[in-house]
Formats: sequence, structure tokens, C-alpha cells
Amino acid sequence: MIKTLAKSIREYKRSSVLSPVFVSIEVVLECLMPLVIMAFIAAINRGGAEGETLKMSTIWYYGGILLAMALLSLCTGMLSGRFAARASAGFAKNLRKDMYYAIQDYSFSNIDKFSTSSLVTRQTTDVTNVQMAYMMIIRVAIRCPLMLVFSLVMAFIVNPGIAWIFLALVPVLAAVLVLVIFRTHPIFERVFKKYDNMNRSVREDIKGIRVVKSFVREDFERKKFKNASEEVCKEFTLAERIMAVNTPVMQFCIWLSFLLIFLMGALLTRSGSPVQEDQLTVLIMYASQILSAVMQLSMVLVMIIIARTSAERIVEVLNEKSNIVSPEDAVKEVRDGDIVFDNVSFKYSQTAEKFALASVNLHIKSGQTIGILGGTGASKSTLVNLIPRLYDATEGAVYVGGVDVRKYDLETLRNKVAMVLQKNVLFSGTIKDNLRWGKEDATDDEMLRVCKLACADDFIQAFPDKYDTYIEQGGTNVSGGQKQRLCIARALLKDPKVLILDDSTSAVDTKTDAMIRRSFREQIPNVTKIIIAQRVSSVQDADQIIVMDGGRINAIGTHEELLASNEIYKEVYYSQNKVGSAAPAEGGQANA
Ligand SMILES: Nc1ncnc2c1ncn2[C@@H]1O[C@H](COP(=O)(O)OP(=O)(O)OP(=O)(O)O)[C@@H](O)[C@H]1O
Ligand SMILES: [Mg+2]
Repeated sequence: MIKTLAKSIREYKRSSVLSPVFVSIEVVLECLMPLVIMAFIAAINRGGAEGETLKMSTIWYYGGILLAMALLSLCTGMLSGRFAARASAGFAKNLRKDMYYAIQDYSFSNIDKFSTSSLVTRQTTDVTNVQMAYMMIIRVAIRCPLMLVFSLVMAFIVNPGIAWIFLALVPVLAAVLVLVIFRTHPIFERVFKKYDNMNRSVREDIKGIRVVKSFVREDFERKKFKNASEEVCKEFTLAERIMAVNTPVMQFCIWLSFLLIFLMGALLTRSGSPVQEDQLTVLIMYASQILSAVMQLSMVLVMIIIARTSAERIVEVLNEKSNIVSPEDAVKEVRDGDIVFDNVSFKYSQTAEKFALASVNLHIKSGQTIGILGGTGASKSTLVNLIPRLYDATEGAVYVGGVDVRKYDLETLRNKVAMVLQKNVLFSGTIKDNLRWGKEDATDDEMLRVCKLACADDFIQAFPDKYDTYIEQGGTNVSGGQKQRLCIARALLKDPKVLILDDSTSAVDTKTDAMIRRSFREQIPNVTKIIIAQRVSSVQDADQIIVMDGGRINAIGTHEELLASNEIYKEVYYSQNKVGSAAPAEGGQANA
């Protein structure tokens, strides 16, 4: 895990090393200062005792040394802080970037594994946790143990008879702190899951705010959010409440140590080995340093523990390897739009019991128009997803242009197999910007051509800004049918050999739908067109119609053939065309 994370430090290695170096200097200075103070006090005492006046030069001497040390410690402290800040912020930046890049490479099945909200939490809260922990590690986690050891050694040098008090107190304090950490750790682990929940609730609600409003579900959403945020609050309160024990225990230990130091001093003095007040003063200083080091160390531990959970979640994202990548010596040319499914079965996850697609055999000749019809959940989308290799077949193989899709360079394949997804999105930007997703350097003429093909030109010309009309995020300012036609145009701009429309004209009126199909037939006759539809009219004139049912191909044939022989097709057809004589058979359109 650490190795994976460490890869993201990169250009911030120097800062990451310099910070502890300066911290170490700071610690050494801080531990030496009490010694100088001790010498100073001794000098003052001597001055008083021998009846001489304390020389001004002595005061200047010790004062000067102390001031210089204090200033130097200030500078090194500030420098180490600066380097730590730079290193940790830079580290976080790199982590986010690496995660982002990793996610961009994910295949559809990788994406299925993580929920969107969890990916967002991982990129934000989790990275921030790791960033904080990293900063603490390179500063405080170095500082505290050093401080602890140095101060202990110094205390023993000053007066071993009293210094053992620290040896007794430190374990007690440490034990309490460790106990607290063990109690809180599982709670923090739970908190992050709850965080995901809360984020999901916010995301879903805001994304679907229109649906929420139209169903008047605001109250329900409010309640959902309230529950989620209260859960987070409850767990955090619990964790913080346990952790709140730390500070009072720590304070108590400090006062206890002072008390014990004086007590031991008094006892030692009584028993004939007098303890000087300069020694007592210095020991008290070391007491504060030692105990606060232990305290800070425990806080770092808590932070590290919180961050460990976060780090694991980040590493999960970074280590998720895309299972769909281009092979070496990939084929970079798609011959034609010939498609073969050779005994293909597919399931969405290895653990799934049921195949979403079972033993599909199919041959689509280049240039054909194929309609796919079937009820919701009949695996129509699943079938076509395998063609541009959005998923890999679990068994069997899919061939495009005579070559196994797994042998193609992914970019080549996906450019030549253009797919208009069922759940499509437009991005914020002008219409032109959106179209250029299909081809970066498309000229205005090319865009005009594909928009005419997709029957989108008419309505685009009607906008005041025409092709420069601004599309809001998610395409909210165009109608459903307009959005679909823009998506088709965008796919056409790729100049594909196979064009797949997954229910992409469902919101387009029947007349326009027919016009689009006619222009396809006339203007791109060599492109293999696969049209998934719910309306029989959308596929009626196709060369072949595939009827899907429950993950299998139920029948293949032309409209006339199917109408004569296939029950499902007949049902769907008659239910949509309301031909009185041949009413749909039992079950109605349950499948369609
Ligand atoms: N990403 C996914 N992960 C797991 N299961 C999925 C996933 N996508 C679809 N499924 C399942 O696979 C089956 C087929 O879904 P598919 O989307 O192919 O149906 P469809 O025929 O396209 O339906 P529709 O007409 O509603 O679009 C369904 O049972 C669905 O629950
Ligand atoms: Mg579908």
C-alpha cells in the first residue's frame, strides 16, 4: 500500500526530506535550551552567593546564546513547516491526479465496481486525510520521538535520581492513548462508509432534482439526507467523545509529573543529596516537553489510523487495473462492418449466477441494417455493448471485420464502431464542442453533413446562435428528441463502419425517426447499422430483425417472416398497431 502511495510523491521528494531535517535541528535546539537556562540560573546563583555583583557581560553572554538559539529554532521550525506544507499538498495533488487518470482508463466493468459517490469521496475527503497524515508524519512524527528520546537523555544527565519519574509516567500516558486509539479506529472505519452514503444522497438528489420535484419527493429526500448526515454525526460524536479523554489525561499527567519532581527533589534533599533549583527548573521544562511529545505522537497515531482507512480506499482505486486494454501489436484497421458473434455468453460480474447473455450466435453482414427488439431487460444493450468492447465476452468471441475485437487497438475499434448509448449525455459547451467529441478537427461542413443526416440541422438552425448554441451541463436546455439527434450526429462524425443506436430515437417523433432511417439508407449504405428500438416501426424496414428474450436470441428474420412465425414479435406489433382482428395474445406487451 505504502509503495503504491509513495509513487505519487514524485517531485515533492526534496521537500519531504528537508522537512524532517529541519525538524530535527529544531528539536536539538529545543532540548539544548533548558541546559543553557540551567547554566544561566547557576551563574545567577553564583553571582548572588559569592557576594559579587552579577557581571553584565555574563547576562549578555547567556541571553545572547538563548536568543540566538530561539531564533534559529524559530527559523528551522518555520522552514520545516513550509516544506511539510509543500510536500503534503503536492502529494495530495499528485494522488488526485493519479486517481483521476486511473479512473479515465477504467472499463465499464471497472466502473460497475465503484459507486460514483464513493469515487468522489475517495478523491476528496480521503485524499485530504492522507494529506494531513502525510504532513504530520514528515513533521510531527519525526519531531515527537526525537524530542522524547532527547529530553529523556537530557533529563537523566541533569539528575538521574528524579528523571526515572518520566520513565514511569510515559508508559501510563501512552497506554491510555493507545487504548483510546483502539476504541476509535473501528468507529472511523464505519464513518467513512456513512460518508459515502451521505455523498450519494446529496449527489442523487441534486442530479435528479427535477424528478424529485415532479414527484413532490422533497420531504422524502430531506429525510433521506437527514438520516445520512445524522448517522455521520452520531459516529463522529462517538469517536470524538472517546478521543476527548486525551487532553485531560495529558494535563493530569503533566501536573502529576511536576508534583512528583518537587516531591522527589524534597526527599532527595532531605536524605542528604540536595537538588539545586536550577536542576528542578530544567526538569520541569523537560517534563512538559516529554509529555507533550507523547501527546502529539498519539494525535499523529490517530491521524495515521484515520488515514490508513482512507489510504486503503485510495489504493483500491489506483490498483484497479482496467481489464480492457489494447493488446500489443494491436490491429489498427477495421476492414468493414461485418460482425460475428461466435457462441457468446456474458455475465456482468464473475460472481453473478446468471448469464446476462447466453450462447449467442449471429452473423451481420457489412452494410446491413439490423433491428433489435425485445422487452426491457432482454439484454439488448448488453449484446451491442460487446461490439465496441465496452465489456468483454465471458465465453466465446465477437468479431468485427473478421478480427476478434480483443485484437484491435481500442481507439481504432471504438472510432469505427460508433455507439449512441442508451444513457447518453451531452456536456456543457456549444453544439460544435459537443459534436467535436466525434472528431476533434471536424470542419463546419462535416458537422453540417452529419447533422443533416441525423435530422438535427433543422432545429439547430432555428436556434438564434445556431451551431454555437450553448448546451447546459447534461443537455438540459434541449429537448429529449433534440438531444438524441445531437448524440447521433456526434457518433456519425466518427465516420464509422458500424453504427449502433441503442434506443436512440425513442424520444424522436415517428416521422423524423423514419426520415433519419431513410437518410441512413441513402447516404451511408456501406455502414452496418444496428438499431435497438421499442417501436416496431423503427425496425420494420431493417434487413434483419433480432428478437431478444431473457438474454437469448429468440428469433431472427425480416418483418414479414417474424410477423408470420414469431409470437413475441406478433404481440409487440399488434399491440402497437392496434389491428383489431389480431389482438395480442396472452401476456400482452409484458415483454416489450
Ligand atoms: N452494469 C450492469 N451490471 C450488472 N447487471 C447489469 C448491468 N447492466 C445491465 N444489467 C442486467 O443485465 C440484464 C440485461 O440488461 P440490458 O440493459 O442489456 O437490457 P435491455 O434489453 O437493454 O433493456 P432496456 O430495453 O430496458 O434497455 C438486466 O437484467 C440487467 O439487470
Ligand atoms: Mg438497453
